[in-house]
Amino acid sequence: MLCCSFVFCNAEKMALEPGTVKFTVSMIYLICLCSGKKVNDRPIIGVMSQETHGDLGKFGPSVVVASYVKLVESGGARVALVKINQSMDYYIKMFNSINGLIFPGGGQSDILNSGYGKAAKIFFSMAVESNNKGDYFPIWGTCQGLLLLAAIVAGEDISGSVDCVNVAVPLKPTPDFVKSRIFDIKTPDCVLKALTTENSTYNHHKFSVTPKNFTKFGLDKFYRIISVNEGGNGLEFISTLEALDYPIYGIQWHPEKTLFEWNPHKDSAIPHFPNAVAVAQHVVNFLVSEARKSHHRFSSEDEASKYLVYNYQPVYTGNVVSYELCYFLDM
Ligand SMILES: *[C@@H]1O[C@H](CO)[C@@H](O)[C@H](O)[C@H]1NC(C)=O
Ligand SMILES: *[C@@H]1O[C@H](CO)[C@@H](O)[C@H](O)[C@H]1NC(C)=O
Ligand SMILES: *[C@@H]1O[C@H](CO)[C@@H](O)[C@H](O)[C@H]1NC(C)=O
Repeated sequence: MLCCSFVFCNAEKMALEPGTVKFTVSMIYLICLCSGKKVNDRPIIGVMSQETHGDLGKFGPSVVVASYVKLVESGGARVALVKINQSMDYYIKMFNSINGLIFPGGGQSDILNSGYGKAAKIFFSMAVESNNKGDYFPIWGTCQGLLLLAAIVAGEDISGSVDCVNVAVPLKPTPDFVKSRIFDIKTPDCVLKALTTENSTYNHHKFSVTPKNFTKFGLDKFYRIISVNEGGNGLEFISTLEALDYPIYGIQWHPEKTLFEWNPHKDSAIPHFPNAVAVAQHVVNFLVSEARKSHHRFSSEDEASKYLVYNYQPVYTGNVVSYELCYFLDM
């Protein structure tokens, strides 16, 4: 099975010359991976919902921010919204039907005991068990999702205040960056360059996990740290991690905001320049490539259609909070 992905960088360098139209795309990458393994070209990725707070409360009890949905869709996968506070039967059914799961960002005050955290723990242990049996199932945590991935393994919330709100930075690669799967040998040079030298990754978090707590709570037996960054208070925090032996990934930064969020006040520093967009697109291409290795499925397309995001109407919330669009779920 041949699979190819294209990444265009520096496309802004298209030059218009008098009399002629000249396109100079300074770098075009064509990556072809040849692999004998069957891939699932119709992946469905779950996005975990979470309790609403504050200004979003009036719209419903739980929410999925639409930028996560659009991120997944932009990578060539469909989305099923995953409800919180459901029965074990529901979670088992969803787990056996979807090809990966995202724990999105947000602001749960008691991360492990929220409905979001409780459902996540159930999926996390099912994923570990199934991956152990050779049944591939990726899990992806963004921002709060990374804190949750750390908390689940530590057995408690081990995040602390680092203060990194509305800041775009390059990642600081650790020595283990070379072992990264997200940013492996197939990662285009322009993406690597933007990641490590340009303000291409957007942070919006008060709390984070420090490398010190990571080691103190034994997380080094489960994850490796791929990159770090520094908060406003000078504390170093983990900005990217990957599980050693499982397709489980956490990033503290927000590719979905680079592509889909535009709030000019609270999120004024979101990078939208072409190389930052290329970084975000690389991330989602990777995530969906992981989901294509999973062969879970709904019993039929009809059954799948009941769970897909198409059943929900997104609500414009950009005038209330910093998310442009959200999906609200009933319990
Ligand atoms: C979900 O359950 C948790 C406790 O397990 C509770 O705190 C929370 O309010 C519930 N969420 C909703 C939206 O009902
Ligand atoms: C380390 O983890 C503990 C939780 O046991 C937390 O209270 C503390 O704030 C964390 N420290 C830092 C610097 O993140
Ligand atoms: C990144 O942002 C910092 C702080 O705003 C700024 O000083 C620096 O020049 C920026 N770097 C690049 C490569 O744009």
